[in-house]
Amino acid sequence: MARDLPNPPESGLLNALRFGDDTFRFIETMQSRFDDAAAVPIPGRAPLVVVTNPELVHDALSRPAEFSRVPASGPAALIATQGLVQSEGGLWEQQRGIMGPAFMGPQVKAYANTVGRRVETLVEEWSTELGSAESLSRNLHGEMTALTVRVASEILLGEDIGKQRAEEFHGWMQTAGDEFEFGLDAVTPEWVPTRTDPEFKKAAEGILGLAEELIERRRADLAARDPDDTERPKDMLTMLLLAEDKPDVEYPDNQIRDEVSTFLIAGHETTALSLTYTQCLLSQHPEIREQVRQEANEVIGDETPSYDHVSDLEYTGRVFQEALRLYPAAWAVFRQASADVRLGEYRVPEGAAIIMPQWSIHRDPRYFENPEQFDPDRWLDRSPQEVEAYFPFSSGPHACIGRQFSITGARLALATIVRNFDVDVAEDALDDLRATPTLRPGGSVDATIRPVD
Ligand code: HEM
Repeated sequence: MARDLPNPPESGLLNALRFGDDTFRFIETMQSRFDDAAAVPIPGRAPLVVVTNPELVHDALSRPAEFSRVPASGPAALIATQGLVQSEGGLWEQQRGIMGPAFMGPQVKAYANTVGRRVETLVEEWSTELGSAESLSRNLHGEMTALTVRVASEILLGEDIGKQRAEEFHGWMQTAGDEFEFGLDAVTPEWVPTRTDPEFKKAAEGILGLAEELIERRRADLAARDPDDTERPKDMLTMLLLAEDKPDVEYPDNQIRDEVSTFLIAGHETTALSLTYTQCLLSQHPEIREQVRQEANEVIGDETPSYDHVSDLEYTGRVFQEALRLYPAAWAVFRQASADVRLGEYRVPEGAAIIMPQWSIHRDPRYFENPEQFDPDRWLDRSPQEVEAYFPFSSGPHACIGRQFSITGARLALATIVRNFDVDVAEDALDDLRATPTLRPGGSVDATIRPVD
């Protein structure tokens, strides 16, 4: 017989306030107090279930019909639409089938090579701006956003959106981050209306407008080509457009636009954040940065970074993997119970909001020795796939489609930047992080960039 989930002893209201006020501390407390999971009653809402045992996390994620996506509501509905990150069931299956090939084999190579070229250009830009100066100041997160959104648009949508547009995009993402920051909104009763900030409406319009523009140009490009052209591009948007006329494919209204806006965001945001956090950690650990530099010099030397270098950047790969453990850009996976369901030995009530936090499971001493320590060598003899408590890309059928892109691209980007520059941030750069659907910095991540001799 299934039993009820344990509750924290404090009143529902107090827990709700703590969750809204300092989400990460609240989640950490649940992690240290409960071995499997806790149900937190929230006044006027279904309970919040925090799952603290990785075995139960993987179980829930393998059963999407029972643990379903949380439908976008309020301002989120403006941009989190029916794209692949939100869709479910038959529509999700159809879309993942159409787009899947755009993330495999030759496309991974193309992605890595694009990162290589783009990061080389970034190095040139920083070097030119430095001139004979000793250092340069930059918002590291802004720079990484511009880098990754341009790569994502070029590879997935067939067109580099350019520097200016990429900078504008960073502004839109900052506004979206402010709008979606967890706070008391997340735990106020559902009947309390939410307000949408006009700035956010403008940002959402910007993103959707850019998506429409890119689709129009791609459509025109495809129409101008010979249908038997074997050189036809193999990007995700092309695949979506070519599938439109297939008899077994049915798109709801605006489906292509929703996929494109979804991928403009999902295709870069977590990667930009992860590159930013990894560089902050390297700034705090110069001895590890030196090892990355040594590897970069040996493997890449003066060549243009490319896919051919990826497998030899083994230490850099471990550094990125370890950074994703301590600062997982997707800090939790969110689901809701679609009916009264069982999880392990527990009964989860219909409608419960389920939080499966990488943030606290990745730092639980039950699963990682010296969990707070940044130690890339902890992965020397362990493959990430073998470690149940490590799931930065989630698991189950909705696991990240872009995992391979990020892993290969990050190695090249990190190695190339570290080979050429010391990027330093303030000691406390990682102290002010915000819980939005992703883990975001509280403000600008100010970095001092110095050339390496
Ligand atoms: C370090 C970088 C990245 C991290 C940490 C990350 C993390 C994740 C996680 C945790 C999920 C599961 C979300 C859920 O189940 O609710 C996910 C799904 C997804 N990610 Fe990523 N991601 C990264 C990079 C990328 C890239 C580069 C792309 C696209 C090019 C991408 C596209 C997606 C999509 C479309 C989904 C939804 C997949 C589905 O439901 O079929 N991600 N990602």
